[in-house]
Amino acid sequence: MIGQRMRRLKQAFFVLLVAMTFIASGDWHSIAQRQSNVARVEANRLQVGLGERLFREDRFTTAKGDLFTSCATCHLTDQDPQGHRVFTDFFNRSWVPYRNEDPRRTEIRNSPTLLDVALMPLLHLDGEFKSLEELVAGTFSGRPMGWLPGEEEQAFNQIQTVLLADKATEASASYREQFKAAFDVELDKLSRDQIIGLVSKAVADFMRTMRSKQDSPYDRFVKLNGLEAAPASGESAKAFAGRTLAILSELESKKALKLGNGFDQKALNGFRIFLRTEGAASVGNCVACHVPPLFTDNSFHNLGVSQAEFDRLNGEGKFAQLEIPNAATAKRPSAKFRETVEKGRLGVADLGHWNFVDLKTSSLRRAGESDDQLLRRMTGAFKTPTLRHLKFSEPYFHSGDYLSLEAALMEIVRLSEMARAGQVREPDDELLKIRLNDADVRLLLVFLATLNGSPEK
Ligand code: HEC
Ligand code: HEC
Repeated sequence: MIGQRMRRLKQAFFVLLVAMTFIASGDWHSIAQRQSNVARVEANRLQVGLGERLFREDRFTTAKGDLFTSCATCHLTDQDPQGHRVFTDFFNRSWVPYRNEDPRRTEIRNSPTLLDVALMPLLHLDGEFKSLEELVAGTFSGRPMGWLPGEEEQAFNQIQTVLLADKATEASASYREQFKAAFDVELDKLSRDQIIGLVSKAVADFMRTMRSKQDSPYDRFVKLNGLEAAPASGESAKAFAGRTLAILSELESKKALKLGNGFDQKALNGFRIFLRTEGAASVGNCVACHVPPLFTDNSFHNLGVSQAEFDRLNGEGKFAQLEIPNAATAKRPSAKFRETVEKGRLGVADLGHWNFVDLKTSSLRRAGESDDQLLRRMTGAFKTPTLRHLKFSEPYFHSGDYLSLEAALMEIVRLSEMARAGQVREPDDELLKIRLNDADVRLLLVFLATLNGSPEK
């Protein structure tokens, strides 16, 4: 009895502590906080197991659509005979259940990998959500599950109904039993909103376990040569890259550089191009945004991919003519600027983070920048994706229009040249520094292949 009470007390204390640190930090930017959330999860096996089951649950889909979806429909691992995935599907844009009232067949964007997603400050490629929990509740009641805007209440009621009616089977305990074991709650004594809160927490905790193993040929090369895996705290990506290039040259001149299994001379040359941030030739400048060890800066940049799609469908130069309201007049998020581009619909585009950048608090604001300048700079800006495990996540870019990595890299080269010629609307400054020829691209492809670790989960 007392033991049990102590345990409860300890649990309550722990919850309080977590809540307090969260409130005290008051900052979802805090990396330490996100890392400690990830660590806490290890202690929560039952919640994670429940979260995994909910991730694969397709009975939360609306019956008014023509498909049953679960999170795992679009975020696959090894369920598909077509091959292994890293929580992505095989579509350029994932299918959603069809609804007469909203004739869209697909999601706005390509489904990204979920590996290491718990370390990201903002979620979705446009930064729509500030926490995994918020994302889960929004997704279970949104278009991916066939629900239309305004049907959130119905969606949440259905989740409650499904959970309460669930019966134990040989394969699994009932949801009631699983919630009791994981959270020590009686499901039927909770309000619907409390249930949605716990569902969101369990699925979020499951996603916190989705970490990429850092065991790729690249990781082995880094260890073998005693290189640093990440910039030092406070060090810029550029400084880190410069330092790494110098160490590589020094080791090489001493004949002490070791190439390893799966990391050959070509990969090394590709790595150098990846790291080079200035010069007139063979400059990838990739590191400016794809920062090791996860090869992302968790930030948002415009490479011109939205423009490329828009102009491919509507004619060169058409995106430049799109009327985009300024900071004072823009209503954001905007349905027409958060839409899949279609031929002939000249007023509709996907402007990415433009829809969600918080003009009061965004850390992306530069010194002296006005609201309007910041907002304009976010035109077509999308989250920098990780470059790990790309072999298992094609097609590429937010549009999913690029079926091979080679096509994706050739597009980056083309857009960098267009940006220098002043033909990309609001390009990221770092895009202009990329200077690559075909041979460089081939070496970069060899390097990127060394970032494919052993697929897991
Ligand atoms: C119909 C397909 C589909 C379903 C179902 C789906 N997703 Fe997604 N998911 C996507 C797409 C597409 C994106 C990219 C969305 C964007 O950027 O607007 C995404 C993005 C995400 C992200 C953000 C990744 C990042 O890098 O920011 C997370 C996390 C996620 N999904 C988790 C889930 C969970 C959890 C569920 C179930 C509750 C789910 N998804 C259901 C297609 C789907
Ligand atoms: C200015 C920042 C920046 C630079 C510099 C940059 N990238 Fe990216 N990269 C991004 C962003 C942002 C995206 C997503 C763009 C989109 O979907 O609209 C992306 C997407 C990609 C993708 C597609 C990945 C996927 O999962 O869809 C690959 C591959 C890639 N970059 C490789 C590179 C390489 C190689 C370099 C160097 C030649 C490079 N990038 C330079 C920011 C950058």
